[in-house]
Amino acid sequence: MSEGMKWWQKTNVCEIYIRSFNDSDGDGIGDLNGITEKLDYLKELGIGAIWLTPCYKSPQADNGYDIADYYEIDETFGTMEDMDHLIAEAGKRGIRIVMDLVFNHTSDQNSWFLESASGKDNPKSDWYIWRDARPDGSEPTNWRNIFGGSAWTWSETRGQYYLHTFLSEQPDLNWENPEVREALYNVANFWLDKGVGGFRMDAVTYIKKPALTDGEPDGRDGRAAIHKMTANTEGILDFLHEFKDRVQRGRDIFTVGEANGVRASELSQWVGDEGVFDMVFEFSHMLIDLNNEIDWSSRRNWSLADLKRILGDSQRNTAENGWYPIFFENHDQPRCIDHYFPWVSDSENGSEESMAAKVIGTLMFTLRGTPFVYHHFLIHEGRTEEEALEAVRHFSRDSARTPMQWTAEENAGFTTGEPWLPVNDNYRTCNADS
Ligand code: BGC
Repeated sequence: MSEGMKWWQKTNVCEIYIRSFNDSDGDGIGDLNGITEKLDYLKELGIGAIWLTPCYKSPQADNGYDIADYYEIDETFGTMEDMDHLIAEAGKRGIRIVMDLVFNHTSDQNSWFLESASGKDNPKSDWYIWRDARPDGSEPTNWRNIFGGSAWTWSETRGQYYLHTFLSEQPDLNWENPEVREALYNVANFWLDKGVGGFRMDAVTYIKKPALTDGEPDGRDGRAAIHKMTANTEGILDFLHEFKDRVQRGRDIFTVGEANGVRASELSQWVGDEGVFDMVFEFSHMLIDLNNEIDWSSRRNWSLADLKRILGDSQRNTAENGWYPIFFENHDQPRCIDHYFPWVSDSENGSEESMAAKVIGTLMFTLRGTPFVYHHFLIHEGRTEEEALEAVRHFSRDSARTPMQWTAEENAGFTTGEPWLPVNDNYRTCNADS
């Protein structure tokens, strides 16, 4: 390893989907103390940083990606004391905690939004993206949110529509307003002052909105996908340079952006010394089996040569521009065996599955970049048999969110209670212990 490398270029990162990792209090939902209990195990695996999915106060409309208070821990996951304890205990083992910053939107239960929605005349009236209805009462644009349906929701109290890239419970913040940006930088600095090791920047390429005009319809509903209109638009880098100046400069942390819509040719503006982040997630290998990124159910066949070409391109871009996270799954994606070895996951032969997992593991730890392991990959997981579940298996995010399988004991040792999502049936043989 070269002397000049940063700590985060020399370690492995583990993404922990808190809800499914380890439950310490028997309520069936993983929590912060559950992670603290497993730190020695993570250390033994060579993990130097944990990307923690959101644990802030939230009504959980999107499992925590809808934040009601950036300064509080959701009681489902514990308390601020538990968080401080986790940061300190992890630190003793050389593990840094990396927070998920969800800055494109908040929860509709966030006090910022409640105030903004209370009427047109309040100090936060311009903190979200509000527009009048068209003369016929319909939405301001024909945009479809990423989860489906209109990207606009009507507020009775305000008498206007608000914009949301994701669920209607996740209103988009108005980054054009300097007060909003200031409030967000304060949040980031609050967590850095607590000693966290960096940030994963959720959905960050959507923060800058272009002119709000209708898009070319791309579906039978006559709507246009919002992300086609708003991802990575002109001017976004000005916001992100400001973020870098106000938050990151002078701190020994890393940032990784979820950067849908950033092209290889633009990477030098996004990563590295001249860029805005240390790394960005690049999704081309994740989209390998989709005809287009709008319609997740429209799949296409792909060959090993396609995968080699895609990974080769991304490795070359990395070498030229900076550094990548290496990942083959996360909490939004199908499990990697199902994704890249569908014929193996359909077979009854467990040893073929292990072989497939080893192949992915080998790629993961030999490509140039920082490996980002998802905790489910710490063991390897089987599949469901019913044909009818085919589509769900490939596209439901739940299949990537089943509880971690620790032991062959009841509920795979994840909880002493009723798990929030059923444990995969294969836990008796597939578990971290075995
Ligand atoms: C997260 C998703 C979440 C969405 C909205 C994504 O990029 O990874 O799990 O639903 O952002 O915050």
